[in-house]
Amino acid sequence: MIRIVEPVFSEEEKRAVLEIIESHQITRGEWTKRFQEEFARFVGTDHCFTVCSGTVALFIALRALGVDRRDKVVVPAMSFMATIDSVYLACGEPVVVDVDEYYTMDLNQLEDAVKKFKPKVVMPVHLYGGMADMEGIMELSERYGFYVVEDAAQAHGAELKGRKAGAWGHVGAFSFYASKNVPMGEGGALTTNDPEIAKKIRQWIDFGDHPAFNVRITEFQAAIGTLQLRKLPQRNERRREIAKTYSGRLEGIFELPKERPDSYHVYHLYTLRHPEREKVLERLKEKGVDARVYYTYLLHELRGSEHLPTPNAEKFRKEVFSIPVHPYLSDEEVDLICGTLTEFSHLVR
Ligand SMILES: Cc1ncc(COP(=O)(O)O)c(C=O)c1O
Repeated sequence: MIRIVEPVFSEEEKRAVLEIIESHQITRGEWTKRFQEEFARFVGTDHCFTVCSGTVALFIALRALGVDRRDKVVVPAMSFMATIDSVYLACGEPVVVDVDEYYTMDLNQLEDAVKKFKPKVVMPVHLYGGMADMEGIMELSERYGFYVVEDAAQAHGAELKGRKAGAWGHVGAFSFYASKNVPMGEGGALTTNDPEIAKKIRQWIDFGDHPAFNVRITEFQAAIGTLQLRKLPQRNERRREIAKTYSGRLEGIFELPKERPDSYHVYHLYTLRHPEREKVLERLKEKGVDARVYYTYLLHELRGSEHLPTPNAEKFRKEVFSIPVHPYLSDEEVDLICGTLTEFSHLVR
């Protein structure tokens, strides 16, 4: 089976884990500090705080920005459910808008939603590893006065106009779940340049002026994350190389993922579209390829949330599927996947 995700660890991660055991410093040690410093430097922000998951990172971001008592938070229709659930957990009220051709928050609809609902926070998602229109969103933020939290759970190292995901909004939120481009097993982080917001975030992490959860990661996670982060640039390059091969060979057969101009897509997922998706998935399965649909739901359907019309998302959700794009695919595996998909196109024509 060609797996859709494949976290790969080497001797250095094993050595680090053993050293941590032998040192007895298994939490709150040097690795956690090192990871926070290296991740902040990598993203290009002054601060980085690790937490136990991406969901918790989103929750803390919203609370740190003052979301409470049904403050409105705008989210896009297509994402993993944690995006919208974090809003409910933070006692906010989500408003869902449509996505654009890049599967990220539609800017025109965002402006309509902002005028109508006056949100405290807007939460774009860099879905599948492709950047949302952060330039446009930050312009609207200045004009209308809302905060921006980037859900960068799938976008470690993605860039727009040379600036990285997590360095555009007031806060960036990341996940280091096992399948992510930087895997720790479980984990998350918040990034920000704003010292006041950093102070608020810290109170959710270090037991401050109000009740808070313990959201720490262990030294094991921090060490694995640090070592994985150092390999990220070359791994993202390999993902992009595979994506380029797919897009070259599958053009004209499928609706391919688009890269926003001046952006660096990190292909957490390579997601394409076909109206006969189920047949494609069946064929791939027969050939031993693990292809999947992320996600079958639209966010406002999950909990019956307020939403604007979402015609793009409704069309896309019926057609999207993702094929393996992890950096450890061999050229032969990529070739087999391309072959299966091009062969399929002859069958349905
Ligand atoms: C877009 C998005 N947001 C939030 C999350 C939540 O992260 P976690 O699973 O670490 O809680 C994930 C991933 O799992 C995600 O893909």
